[in-house]
Amino acid sequence: MNKDKHEVKLLQNIEPYAKTLDMLYHLNSKYTRGLMHRLSPRTSFKQHSTIARTMPKEEDIQLKNVSGNPCNTTFKDVLAIRRSIRDFKPTRLSKSTFTELLRMAVGTIHDETSEEKDEIKNNKFTQGRTYPSAGAIYPIEVYVFAQSIDEIARGIYRYECYTETLVSITKEQKDIENFLNSIMAGFDIQNAHCFILFVSNWRTIKEKYLARAYRLALLEAGHVAQNFCLSASANGLGSVMISSYYDKEIEDVLKLDGINQSIVSMQIIGEPKGE
Ligand SMILES: Cc1cc2nc3c(=O)[nH]c(=O)nc-3n(C[C@H](O)[C@H](O)[C@H](O)COP(=O)(O)O)c2cc1C
Repeated sequence: MNKDKHEVKLLQNIEPYAKTLDMLYHLNSKYTRGLMHRLSPRTSFKQHSTIARTMPKEEDIQLKNVSGNPCNTTFKDVLAIRRSIRDFKPTRLSKSTFTELLRMAVGTIHDETSEEKDEIKNNKFTQGRTYPSAGAIYPIEVYVFAQSIDEIARGIYRYECYTETLVSITKEQKDIENFLNSIMAGFDIQNAHCFILFVSNWRTIKEKYLARAYRLALLEAGHVAQNFCLSASANGLGSVMISSYYDKEIEDVLKLDGINQSIVSMQIIGEPKGE
């Protein structure tokens, strides 16, 4: 059965309640044997994970030489203490703890082979990370709004995990105001140390996985977010996921087109106020 016949049959047989956009998407992104041949031929890990990066700018912040604060909490304890925190102390986060948080949540993990060192030199990156990614494509990029972190100017950055660089997006007060106004958290966010923004690059993952790419990118965002939740707990911090924001307003501040790249989730991290 060819693909078109398959889809017609599928849509005719579903219950009316399932004819909503989300269910139509889900049903039509299921793998069936008849559709598998339409996926792009499997290419190697290295081809997919090779992403050329931008040239460093003066206002970017290098974290490579920052020594992180090693944390001693056991994994079992980290899991047990994690809960959503919405009330933060008006403190600042040290640069070393912030660096540790990024390294744990979205760090690279394999030792560099000499071939990888050459690729890094050539502005291509192939290392694995602390979370899984379908096809090792890593469509999710992490952006950070550094609100109160020592030695890091208040502003919005894109984090490049391979080089441990915060690439400056904007420090303009107007942009920051627009950013904060586009979040409907329903609680006080002004004491949070930082906001982690998960952005999906759809193009690369869609090339390989077609309609299923959407599911895979969102799952990846969940993996990275959980890494941040647990890394925050391990470092004595609290975090909460935020899904209430005006997508386009955030994308405008981040300078994303909203089509090839869009925000898919957000997280806030700070020092828990406690009882
Ligand atoms: C995808 C996702 C989106 C969420 N969005 C919000 C949100 O917009 N605002 C909020 O206060 N909490 C949000 N939460 C946190 C949930 O309310 C919270 O995880 C849930 O109440 C369970 O509590 P716990 O995390 O302390 O175990 C979100 C959680 C997830 C997983």
